[in-house]
Amino acid sequence: MNRVTLVDVFKHRITQKYLQRSGIHHAVTVAYFAFEMAVEEGVDPDLAAKSALLHDMGHYEWYRDGKWDYEEYRKHDIHAIKGAERAHKLLVRLGEDRLTAKQVSLAVLLHTDSYLPFELANLRTPLQEVVRKADEKDEQPLGMHHYKEMDKSEAIRQLHKLDQMIEDYLNKDKEALG
Ligand SMILES: [Fe+2]
Repeated sequence: MNRVTLVDVFKHRITQKYLQRSGIHHAVTVAYFAFEMAVEEGVDPDLAAKSALLHDMGHYEWYRDGKWDYEEYRKHDIHAIKGAERAHKLLVRLGEDRLTAKQVSLAVLLHTDSYLPFELANLRTPLQEVVRKADEKDEQPLGMHHYKEMDKSEAIRQLHKLDQMIEDYLNKDKEALG
């Protein structure tokens, strides 16, 4: 089975609809961080990059009078739950392996505990922890990381490069296994 690429995922209309809200720049940057961390920690970099690219696709736009309303957001946010569902549906539609789709969906669900009444602390799997740390690395005060811009063609260029890095890594692994 051919690998579903990050570029396939990014170009899909579901991704295009929802990724704009939290920002393409943030999604692509976190995907790169997740790749690097996954390689360091022995986690599957394909799963890590896909989860990272999609981790914020559940965001609703909490605007009031043209500004992001943080109070409303904190009170009512469930973006990780919505994102987990959207990411799963999207990947299954693209023909992704169902186990991969489930793992990505869970990594999206658990990338933050800001919406939960408890902390997940050390309960995350290594994949889930990689995605959480990659997101945290790009975070800026007052959510400014969501406002950095990147146009669609630049995102596709960068994701294509990342796809090649992932495939090189996975092929190297296969070769090593003989
Ligand atoms: Fe994020």
